Amino acid sequence: MQNLTITRPDDWHLHLRDGEAMKAVLPHTIRQFARAIIMPNLKPPIRSVADAAAYRDRIIAAIPTGKQFEPLMTLYLTDNTNPEEIIAAKASQFVKAVKYYPAGATTNSDFGVTDIRKCDRVFEVMQQVNLPLLLHGEVTDRDVDVFDREKVFIEKHLLPLKERFPNLRVVLEHITTSDAVQFVLATNNIAATITPQHLLFSRNILFKGGIRPHFYCLPILKREEHRLELLQAATSGNPKFFLGTDSAPHPRNSKESSCGCAGCYSALHAIELYTEAFESANSLDKLEAFASFYGPDFYQLPRNTEQITLTKTTWRIPDEVPFLESGLVPLWAGQEMRWQMAEH
Ligand code: NCD
Ligand code: ZN
Repeated sequence: MQNLTITRPDDWHLHLRDGEAMKAVLPHTIRQFARAIIMPNLKPPIRSVADAAAYRDRIIAAIPTGKQFEPLMTLYLTDNTNPEEIIAAKASQFVKAVKYYPAGATTNSDFGVTDIRKCDRVFEVMQQVNLPLLLHGEVTDRDVDVFDREKVFIEKHLLPLKERFPNLRVVLEHITTSDAVQFVLATNNIAATITPQHLLFSRNILFKGGIRPHFYCLPILKREEHRLELLQAATSGNPKFFLGTDSAPHPRNSKESSCGCAGCYSALHAIELYTEAFESANSLDKLEAFASFYGPDFYQLPRNTEQITLTKTTWRIPDEVPFLESGLVPLWAGQEMRWQMAEH
């Protein structure tokens, strides 16, 4: 096969940032994706429909002329989120979900929830009005090993949450473990996004010949056996698993630091990375549904009608792209790739 034409994909988990940073990365996403679920972890976070409306306007204003892109907005859940805000979010039509971060779990999560049960009144309303809950599924307890945080979150918080709210529609974001795959398969009204880094790499790459900060994201990469199970889930044709890059740009100097930030940048070449992963599993025929069908189906939105074409050709991922003062290192910089999206 030399060409692969698929329906234009969407990114169901994206960090776009704001201001100059957003202007630098937005064109990359727009080149590949028609829509994206925009993460609300700005400083301060997007907590109200008014915040989301203003952020959406700034994104739309930054879309280069002649390009099409639809930002799908989310609200950042806090201990103080009001059930009325959920009603207003649903009514707005442009807020598509609410994002849960455990306080202190990751980049800009200081406003996150301190105890998930504090939000039960909000979940009740979300379940009623059919607004999905997106989970950063990790515990932050100091005594839990960093590699076990997803598994413990599922046992301690997600299982009880789904028992309390069986009809609440949930996306377990950027899953990293076989525990997450098994839980999603066994439970109703829950789906999962999977990133390119968790399909392509195990935790070994973090320490290959030295410490490699550009592979550091949260949840952290896991053992090879987990990667294989994620790849199996993504290529299985099960609609519960779909594309979400978690592309999270940080300037080079905040990654290459004595205390480096978490986040991999993949908006530049996401669809090519996923294509490599699917080809490695001999499952190119499953790519289109994972990338372009199951996401809109879950969010109850129409599928895109445009197409993109990937061509078999070799090219090198650039070492850096322009971004603020110190540049941005794409995921797997320097790697030779076998598929490239054609320019239209
Ligand atoms: C994200 C970021 O930088 O905003 N980082 C990451 O490692 N994924 C936050 C997040 O989604 O956890
Ligand atoms: Zn994220």
